[in-house]
Amino acid sequence: MSLANASWSRRRFVQMGTASALAAGINPSLEAAAAPTGKPTMIGVPFEKRNPRIAIIGVGGRGTSLLVNLIAADAQIVAICDVVQEKAEHAAGLVEKDGRKRPDLYTAGPHDFETMLKRSDIDLVIAATPWTWHAPMALFAMNHGKDVAIEVPGVLTLEDCWNIVNTSESTRKHCIMLENCCYGYNETLILRMTHQGRFGDLLYGEGAYRHDLREELFSNAGEGLWRRDEHTKRNGNLYPSHGLGPVANYMGINRGDRFGYLVSMSSPERGFDAYRKDHLQPNDPRMAERYVCGDMNTSLIKTANGLTITVKHCVSLPNPYSRINMIAGTKGIFEDYPPRIYFDGDKDEAYGSLDQYKEYAHPLWQRMGEVAKKAGGHGGMDYLMLYRLLQCVREGLPPDMDVYDAAAWSSVGPLSVSSVARDSAHIDFPDFTRGGWKSRTASAIATQA
Ligand SMILES: NC(=O)c1ccc[n+]([C@@H]2O[C@H](COP(=O)([O-])OP(=O)(O)OC[C@H]3O[C@@H](n4cnc5c(N)ncnc54)[C@H](O)[C@@H]3O)[C@@H](O)[C@H]2O)c1
Repeated sequence: MSLANASWSRRRFVQMGTASALAAGINPSLEAAAAPTGKPTMIGVPFEKRNPRIAIIGVGGRGTSLLVNLIAADAQIVAICDVVQEKAEHAAGLVEKDGRKRPDLYTAGPHDFETMLKRSDIDLVIAATPWTWHAPMALFAMNHGKDVAIEVPGVLTLEDCWNIVNTSESTRKHCIMLENCCYGYNETLILRMTHQGRFGDLLYGEGAYRHDLREELFSNAGEGLWRRDEHTKRNGNLYPSHGLGPVANYMGINRGDRFGYLVSMSSPERGFDAYRKDHLQPNDPRMAERYVCGDMNTSLIKTANGLTITVKHCVSLPNPYSRINMIAGTKGIFEDYPPRIYFDGDKDEAYGSLDQYKEYAHPLWQRMGEVAKKAGGHGGMDYLMLYRLLQCVREGLPPDMDVYDAAAWSSVGPLSVSSVARDSAHIDFPDFTRGGWKSRTASAIATQA
């Protein structure tokens, strides 16, 4: 089936019938949701230039860590929302401890963020909540005149991918994904090398989220309270963007190329079952949970220009942490965990050290690397992501990655679920840019930054 064909979902919906299509995660309302807004694209649209007044929703593990980095980057935090009063108080205390004005707190239930976002003195909203809240919070923020940055993995359904695109276009507000891994030292260095042609013509890449989260997801705090539940609902790649985002940037996805289609398959699920058998009492209510997400999901993406990307997801087995972070072309290959690089003609056909290529370090790291490492947050990349976001808003620049990237990277979740449910069927990606990917050339993370 060619990319130019009518969308897989609409045709297959008719062929499959409503019940089985819905069971496979295919939504009949997608075509309506995808309808153009009649508004111009958000590609290249700058932020309104200002020192943004920031509100944070969700100050659990991640939101608190982002807050610490934002304080280090001298950001103005005017309001904080969390359903748990103590968490909001703790976060407000961090702001005050830094000698700043105490932010206003919103803790009156799961929809109190709406009260907060109706204020007119907030410019930028950061949502670091459980996944199901990302879409409603992003849509509410944009509809109330605010730019919004949502945590990974973005939004969960194809319909919400279109919703964030359509709402961003009609409100002229940005909705970006806080994909911190795109700002890693290795990732930004390799991005520069790819853009300078060091790897020749790019052909394939690989990304992953292989992280043993079993202890965390069975804890009685933080993500243990909600993230395991996602594994009872969907079988696919639940968390694609950490591995995929950097590879997409190397390849210029939404900048001369785009995701074309994917096929996806999942292994059986055994990891959580085995873990809880060893760690929980037989009468623990969690013993009744039924996990449907296969332990290892492997999705294969073909881009419109024919490049291939493998994306893996595994959080429920004992395996060392890896995002793989591989890119290969006609002149060489880079592969991470541990970082190693090889160019045509290198000695003994053996990988060499990335240390030889320090001159390609991204200007962000050259200039701000020491500050970033001191501020912390995944080795400094969290700080650099937020520093760069603030820089883009303060200087009135377009965001490095925009709503089209957020939609494309998010969409791997629901598309992989659809493919797995249909014996690894080929599923087309929507073109969220509506053709804008063809003419856009700018790098995802401006190399002069
Ligand atoms: N980029 C990264 O490296 C990274 C790392 C960890 C987590 N994350 C992402 O960050 C997000 C949050 O994860 P976390 O680890 O902080 O989880 P967490 O459970 O520690 O924190 C979530 C917070 O949201 C609050 N919350 C829940 N519903 C709310 C609502 N309706 N209104 C206001 N607050 C609400 C909870 O009380 C909690 O404090 C997730 O999307 C996760 O995937 C990203």
